[in-house]
Amino acid sequence: MSLNIFSPIEINGHKIKNRIVMPAMVSFNYEVKDGEVNDKIIEHYTLRAKGGVGLIIIEAICVDEKLNCRLTKGELGLWDDELIKGHKKLVSEIHNENCTVLAQLSHAGIKGITEANIAPSDFEGTIINKAFKAKEMTVPQIKEIKDKFVKAALRAKRAKYDGVEIHCAHSYLLSDFISPLSNKRNDEYGGSLDKRMKLPLEILKEIRKECGNDFIISVRMGFDEPTIDEGIKIAKMFDTCGSDIIHISTGFGSSGYMSESIMPKAPNDFPLNIRIWASSQIKPYLSCKVIAVGGIRNAEDANTVIFEGYGDFAAVGRGLLCDPEFVNKIKENKKIANCFNCNKCMWSSGMEKCPGRKKYLDSLK
Ligand SMILES: Cc1cc2nc3c(=O)[nH]c(=O)nc-3n(C[C@H](O)[C@H](O)[C@H](O)COP(=O)(O)O)c2cc1C
Ligand code: SF4
Repeated sequence: MSLNIFSPIEINGHKIKNRIVMPAMVSFNYEVKDGEVNDKIIEHYTLRAKGGVGLIIIEAICVDEKLNCRLTKGELGLWDDELIKGHKKLVSEIHNENCTVLAQLSHAGIKGITEANIAPSDFEGTIINKAFKAKEMTVPQIKEIKDKFVKAALRAKRAKYDGVEIHCAHSYLLSDFISPLSNKRNDEYGGSLDKRMKLPLEILKEIRKECGNDFIISVRMGFDEPTIDEGIKIAKMFDTCGSDIIHISTGFGSSGYMSESIMPKAPNDFPLNIRIWASSQIKPYLSCKVIAVGGIRNAEDANTVIFEGYGDFAAVGRGLLCDPEFVNKIKENKKIANCFNCNKCMWSSGMEKCPGRKKYLDSLK
């Protein structure tokens, strides 16, 4: 029988019941204080786990307590042992629904929320019309950040996460290192692709060494650092160094291409989004699993990803924000609440203003 979204899959001994992934999505306006998981966060993810999704990647979690590490003040954290307790509760609720769960580990780099942002090189400019400024990191600072990623991964393991996703995309710190547009260093961490990849690969290898072979490690990377040719080389390097999953998104300068109007188009004969096209180009070179993401809003598109082999998993982001029961509804042939692509779920507006969610809640009345 051919593969479809309900085909189970196993990674490092973890059985994942289906191919639908909830990708990392910051829960804006969820009143997170000092990085701690709260009840709102637990409710948000448990609802999606109950809704049948196979793998949840918890939103960007900061590896350092400093504000310049964070992409929002209300970002979750794993920079201290004290924070493990909340994550443990979150993971346990998700596991109770037979759902696999990874923690996305992040450092905001150029896109931090202070005047003292850090990056591979001095930066002053705009990313999607927003101004950012950052200061070049010293080598001891780079080593310190590497250590923070590894310690956060160890805390994730103690909280019983099935693994982590290392955030190397969307203009955040590790993407800033990979891209020649933001990394102008001429020491061991900049210059050739090998040198620009040194920090992300060291973090990956060290997490593997410390967390063991049964821990799942995903890497979220940009296919366009700055072109698909580099994207293929970068993915091969992560694969060779032991990543279990590569999650293909966008790199420096893109902010994840949330708006269709600024997004480059996939070739005319490709049926889905540019990021999924990129996955289809990169996947043949890899031995690890691939998550394809971008604009998947229904069963047909998700099944096309799996059946055609564009990815081993289909990630559904905003579709799952709108309708937590996305997967169960596909199974039961019920109508899914539509996402309007309005991006009100982003930044200051938060989920409260999501019209898709309103439609979902209305459907329950
Ligand atoms: C509210 C919101 C928050 C997001 N936060 C993150 C994040 O924490 N980490 C990340 O890698 N991507 C983040 N993204 C990008 C999503 O993971 C995903 O790549 C994007 O929404 C495209 O998928 P979709 O078309 O299915 O929504 C976020 C997207 C949204 C809508
Ligand atoms: S309907 Fe708008 S606010 Fe809701 S998930 Fe979709 S893009 Fe976000």
